[in-house]
Amino acid sequence: MAISEANFHQHFDVTWGHHRAQIKDGGQLLTLSLEKDSGAGFQSKSQYLFGRIDMQIKLVAGNSAGTVTTFYVSSPPSLGPNHDEIDFEFLGNSSGDPYTLHTNVFSQGKGNREQQFHLWFDPTTAFHTYTILWNSQRIIFLVDNIPIRVFSNLESMGVPFPNKQPMSIHSSLWNADDWATQGGRVKADWTKAPFVASYKNFKAEACIWNPSSASSACSPGAWQTQGLDAAGRNRIRWVQSKYLIYNYCTDRKRFPQGVPVECKQSRFL
Ligand SMILES: *[C@@H]1O[C@H](CO)[C@@H](O)[C@H](O)[C@H]1NC(C)=O
Repeated sequence: MAISEANFHQHFDVTWGHHRAQIKDGGQLLTLSLEKDSGAGFQSKSQYLFGRIDMQIKLVAGNSAGTVTTFYVSSPPSLGPNHDEIDFEFLGNSSGDPYTLHTNVFSQGKGNREQQFHLWFDPTTAFHTYTILWNSQRIIFLVDNIPIRVFSNLESMGVPFPNKQPMSIHSSLWNADDWATQGGRVKADWTKAPFVASYKNFKAEACIWNPSSASSACSPGAWQTQGLDAAGRNRIRWVQSKYLIYNYCTDRKRFPQGVPVECKQSRFL
C-alpha cells in the first residue's frame, strides 16, 4: 500500500462547523476558522492501528488568546470509557506571548500524562510539521522531525499501551478561553475573529484498519520500529531541558503517593 499524501478531500471529512472548515487548492490546503459562536473540526475517513502521521500546521496568528488548535488520534468515543488517545493541543496566547504545546497520552481511558512545551520558533508565520509516531513499542511526538516526547510501551510493568484499538485522526479549532490562556485569565478578543489555522501536506505511513475483516494493512517502513538513536536522544534532551514547561512526572504535589510507574523509567526508551 502506498503512503497516502495530502489530498484533504480524499482523506478527511469535516465533522463540525461546516462552513468554517474549507478545503482549497484542489485538496492541498485546509483551513479552520473560529468565530465567536463556534469553531470547526475534521476527522480522517480511515482508522489506523499504528502509524506515522505527519501534518503541517500554521497556527492562528496575532492575538490567539483563548483559542485551542488540536491535532490528535483517538479511538472512537463510542467504545466508551476505555478509549485511547494521543494529543497535540496548541494553546493560543496574547500577541507576543508564546503558544503552549500541550501533549497527553490516554491508554485504556486513563490520561493525566500531560507534558507542555514552548516552541523554539513562532508557529504562526510558517507551516511546521507535527508528527505522531505510534508503533508497537513506543509513541514519539515530533516537531519538525525533532523528538520532543516519548511514551514507551511498558505493558510488562502494568502500564496499558494503546495497541488494541484503531484510531482516527482528528483536528479542531475551538474557543477555550475559560481555561486555555494563562489559566483562563486572558480571554479571546472577538473583535479579531475569525481566527484561522491552516493545514497542508498530510502524510500517513500507517496500518489502515479494515473494520469488516478486523485486520490492518500496513505501509512498511522504518516507522514501524523507530526509536531514538543517539542524535534523537541529544535532540530530545535539548528540547526537554530548554522548552519543557510542565511534566506530570515531576509534579509531586499532584501525585503525593508517588508519580506513575512510567515516570520511573528512562524517559527516552
Ligand atoms: C502565554 O504566555 C505566558 C507568558 O509568557 C506563559 O507563561 C504561558 O505559558 C503562555 N501560554 C499560555 C497558553 O498561557
